[in-house]
Amino acid sequence: MGEARYARRLAWYRRTYWPSGSQVLEASANGFSAYPTSAYDRFVEVLDARARGPCGTVLDLGCGTGLLLRHLQARVSFRVVPYGVDFLPEAVACARHLHCPEHAAHFSVGNVRDYPAGAGRVQATGFDFVLLDPSLLEQGDLAPLVSRIMRLVRNTLVLYVYPDVLDSLGLRHAADFEGVRQLSYNLLSPGDVSLAVVPAASPTGRARSPT
Ligand SMILES: C[S@@+](CC[C@H](N)C(=O)[O-])C[C@H]1O[C@@H](n2cnc3c(N)ncnc32)[C@H](O)[C@@H]1O
Repeated sequence: MGEARYARRLAWYRRTYWPSGSQVLEASANGFSAYPTSAYDRFVEVLDARARGPCGTVLDLGCGTGLLLRHLQARVSFRVVPYGVDFLPEAVACARHLHCPEHAAHFSVGNVRDYPAGAGRVQATGFDFVLLDPSLLEQGDLAPLVSRIMRLVRNTLVLYVYPDVLDSLGLRHAADFEGVRQLSYNLLSPGDVSLAVVPAASPTGRARSPT
């Protein structure tokens, strides 16, 4: 469903993030004008606050070049084992060869909408943390994806959306999407990225008001 829409989205990302002839700069290939330290550090805070042991698996759905995962590996207090999926083969190649080469087999090319179908080895394991930007999905595809994902989340699902995307969609925060309003989440105060934290133990229930 909606293949043409995803094809248009993919073409947009390729055109915008990977203009031909330009060098692949670390930040711009993920859509940033500069390295987003303060946004990425907010993920670090969330993961550290909810960590349960010396090691944890983290899946970024729409991982781009693996830059965020690499940041987490460098900054969180536990050992991060990264996993990622992205529909741009060039971004996944970057994650495999440049940013997370020691875990190259954990990265796959595919539409987040279809996860875990087609994700090979990634699918069976379950993850301590899953990071998901709801804006990557067409309306109608989000709720079924989230319900599949919650079965794979062992600790926390982190919904995240960057401010420019929220502005362009006229939305207030990372959980302000039709397909995730049924979740119980804690909304973190806005900043360089909007984050909504969904504990694995309570995948459904009444949505809380933003604070
Ligand atoms: C803004 S970048 C974010 C990269 C990384 N997660 C971060 O926070 O730095 C968004 C990425 O999502 C990917 N993407 C968007 N929609 C997707 C979809 N439906 N399936 C797979 N990847 C998608 C794009 O190719 C792009 O690399």
